[in-house]
Amino acid sequence: MKKLTVLSIVAASLLLVGCGDSATGAEAKAAAKPAVETAAPAAAEATKSAATEAKEAAAVVVEKTTEAVTETVAEAKDAVVETAATATEAVAEVATEAKDAVVETATAAVETTTEAASAVAEKATEAVAAATGPDGKALYAKCAGCHGADGKTAALGKSAVIAGQTAADLETKIAGYKAGTLNVAGMGALMKGQVATYSDEDIKAVSGYIAGL
Ligand code: HEC
Repeated sequence: MKKLTVLSIVAASLLLVGCGDSATGAEAKAAAKPAVETAAPAAAEATKSAATEAKEAAAVVVEKTTEAVTETVAEAKDAVVETAATATEAVAEVATEAKDAVVETATAAVETTTEAASAVAEKATEAVAAATGPDGKALYAKCAGCHGADGKTAALGKSAVIAGQTAADLETKIAGYKAGTLNVAGMGALMKGQVATYSDEDIKAVSGYIAGL
């Protein structure tokens, strides 16, 4: 645009010079000189103006580029924030799963321990019952007078030797005397009186003791 203006001025000057009716070639040349002198600063001005425009255009480009970069940075920031949020969620989920697993394992361990403790308690109860059960040796004390401390005496010269008999046989015989159904040498009633107060557990315990004599 500015260049066109300059060219118009130059052309107009030349036209004016050419229109002079008394002008010769030399005169025309002389007349053109001031026109060129006028055109030169105008051209410089036009160049300067173009440079300014270019500078402005460059400034606009820089501004647009800055905007684009700013936008891209903002988008990148959003993406990072979103990714971080997703990662946080994933970590929280894994942590929850791990917690559940620990709780489950702990519960199983507690159950196993409880079961083991119950088994131990049961065994202990059995052991205590065995230890506190009827004492065969103490129950045999009153029998020793007739059968001998070693169980090898024939009681009142009538009975068989009881030492060496099996616990099962002794149990059956003593239970028979208690029930009044056994009478080997006519002294069954006497034996009934000896074991009348013995419980099944007592009979078992004393039989076990005699069998071990
Ligand atoms: C007063 C003596 C006397 C006492 C005490 C006595 N017994 Fe006897 N026992 C006898 C006589 C007698 C017989 C035989 C009874 C019969 O006629 O069946 C006998 C029989 C037995 C027999 C059967 C033996 C066999 O194989 O035929 C057993 C077992 C026995 N006595 C265990 C005991 C026990 C256990 C006690 C203690 C709780 C005991 N007796 C206390 C006198 C005694």
